Amino acid sequence: MRWTHKYLEPDQVLFMKNFFLPIFFVGALFMGCTANTYDDITGPIENTDPEEVTFQDVNFVFQNVCQACHSNPTQNGAPMPLVTFDNVVDAVQNRGLIDRISRNEGAPGLMPLGGPRLPQATIDLIVQWNEDGLLEE
Ligand code: HEC
Repeated sequence: MRWTHKYLEPDQVLFMKNFFLPIFFVGALFMGCTANTYDDITGPIENTDPEEVTFQDVNFVFQNVCQACHSNPTQNGAPMPLVTFDNVVDAVQNRGLIDRISRNEGAPGLMPLGGPRLPQATIDLIVQWNEDGLLEE
């Protein structure tokens, strides 16, 4: 059966189908791509879960307590800085930071050196940051 129209000649209809259908599909494709790209960019960087602890939540401890010695350059014989995100992540993964802050009051090697031990809630927050995957933000 031939596709006919009251006002358009069949070859005009054919032209419109050939012309607009590709535009429609390309347009749909493009919209799909931009939506995915937006997700790709925002997804991994932004932390949208308010339950997760990030470096922004724990950095005050390193700034206010640890950097008295773990500054850059370091002071009082501290072996490494705890200034940047990378410094602190490295200390958690390779230098036993969680163990050092979790030791009992007065135990050898407890950090901060010379005490007092951090409040338990602060230690728990840093432990939770580690369990949440050491997110930056
Ligand atoms: C008064 C100075 C001082 C303060 C404050 C201090 N540290 Fe230290 N820290 C040291 C010294 C000195 C060492 C090296 C001796 C040792 O390993 O016990 C050290 C060692 C460490 C180590 C082991 C490094 C390694 O490679 O073995 C970690 C982890 C650490 N500190 C974390 C911290 C954290 C976290 C804080 C803050 C909560 C902190 N320190 C506060 C002086 C300090």
